Amino acid sequence: MAVAQRLRQGSTLGSVFVLATLAWNIRFVLFFDSKGSLASSHNEITILIWHWPFHKPMNLSGNVCFNVYNVKNCRLTDDRNMFNNSNVVIFHHKELDNDSHQLPTGPRPSQQMWVWATLESPSNTKGLSKWNSTFNWTMTYREDSDIFVPYGQMVPNLTMALNATIKTGLVSWVVSNYHKVQERAKFYKEFSSYLKVDVFGKASRKPLCSSCLLPMLSKYLFYLALENSVHKDYITEKLWRNAFLAGAIPIVLGPPRENYEKFIPPDSFIHVEDFPSPKHLVEFLITITPKRYQEFFRWRKAYGVKVYTDWRERFCMICSKYQSLPKSKVYTDIERWFNSENVQ
Ligand SMILES: *[C@@H]1O[C@H](CO)[C@@H](O)[C@H](O)[C@H]1NC(C)=O
Ligand SMILES: *[C@@H]1O[C@H](CO)[C@@H](O)[C@H](O)[C@H]1NC(C)=O
Ligand SMILES: *[C@@H]1O[C@H](CO)[C@@H](O)[C@H](O)[C@H]1NC(C)=O
Ligand SMILES: *[C@@H]1O[C@H](CO)[C@@H](O)[C@H](O)[C@H]1NC(C)=O
Ligand SMILES: *[C@@H]1O[C@H](CO)[C@@H](O)[C@H](O)[C@H]1NC(C)=O
Ligand SMILES: *[C@@H]1O[C@H](CO)[C@@H](O)[C@H](O)[C@H]1NC(C)=O
Ligand SMILES: *[C@@H]1O[C@H](CO)[C@@H](O)[C@H](O)[C@H]1NC(C)=O
Repeated sequence: MAVAQRLRQGSTLGSVFVLATLAWNIRFVLFFDSKGSLASSHNEITILIWHWPFHKPMNLSGNVCFNVYNVKNCRLTDDRNMFNNSNVVIFHHKELDNDSHQLPTGPRPSQQMWVWATLESPSNTKGLSKWNSTFNWTMTYREDSDIFVPYGQMVPNLTMALNATIKTGLVSWVVSNYHKVQERAKFYKEFSSYLKVDVFGKASRKPLCSSCLLPMLSKYLFYLALENSVHKDYITEKLWRNAFLAGAIPIVLGPPRENYEKFIPPDSFIHVEDFPSPKHLVEFLITITPKRYQEFFRWRKAYGVKVYTDWRERFCMICSKYQSLPKSKVYTDIERWFNSENVQ
């Protein structure tokens, strides 16, 4: 029976009495469960950024979450004196790994949640086993994180400014750290023996300034979106920005095709594993007709691409999700969680 119906039928006075008592008890609990003095009396959620990712502080003055990202009742602070009044405390892995950075010393307020945040893959995340039973929530690019923070996303009906660029090149790649042992280096070596690739970035001594990046990459038909390591859901700005935003077809190396298809349409990209070898891939590329080429961009009729770059936006997302996040949780073995690769 629907609640409204039951209320209409039931003894009205009785129901009102029960509801009033319940409301009083909730008030009582909220008021007196404030050992850790968490402000439960109003809805604002306070998020303490314990250390800024990569030591790069950002402007938090004004109501950033609301004014910039339209998220209500959400206060970001980096003032450690706010520790006892914070609902959530965020620890970014890179700085956590640096022993000279101290963790909070006082007792944790009882309802406070500690968040472990990183955008790096397990291959580039060291020293995680130290942090058994420390964190309550995770904030990573993995979809099964408590707070899922992808590098980018396809958004229905988002209109994207598309510059009609004349394509003058075939394939481009931007790489800053080139290591021969990486899977992507092996792929590149073989692929480029059949088809010329224009390589940019630190590793090639042809770096692109941030405002030159998109205009340059948009001159190419294809972009090699090769991840530095292969992990579940680890799909970075190489796909979202360098290929999709630039208007080039991504040739991806990363997790299996099914994993990409959780996030993007199957016909929007080429996976290196679609072909038995880089040679077969090149043979396919050179037979693509202009009509076939356009078909890779069908998604644009319905979607735009949003790329996330601002940590403040990610932190504000905690407030948007707050009500649905688990109220009690501990990662007893966070390294095992992060290393598990089963793609759901
Ligand atoms: C910080 O943001 C506030 C509010 O948007 C703005 O008024 C102020 O000029 C900014 N400060 C700096 C240093 O950018
Ligand atoms: C937080 O409260 C504890 C007592 O529960 C106190 O010892 C500590 O100094 C407080 N920390 C801050 C940063 O105010
Ligand atoms: C570790 O922390 C110290 C002190 O803040 C800082 O000077 C140093 O650059 C940090 N090292 C790394 C690798 O982040
Ligand atoms: C963390 O937990 C796992 C699983 O219980 C255990 O194997 C590992 O040794 C623990 N790490 C530390 C540093 O205690
Ligand atoms: C996009 O907008 C059109 C026109 O307003 C609407 O018919 C369609 O349902 C929208 N699509 C999505 C996925 O929201
Ligand atoms: C499109 O042109 C605008 C204005 O010149 C520029 O800001 C933007 O980065 C360009 N986008 C791409 C994908 O090249
Ligand atoms: C958060 O994690 C800590 C450390 O394991 C734990 O003691 C605490 O009970 C957890 N808090 C909640 C609300 O789950």
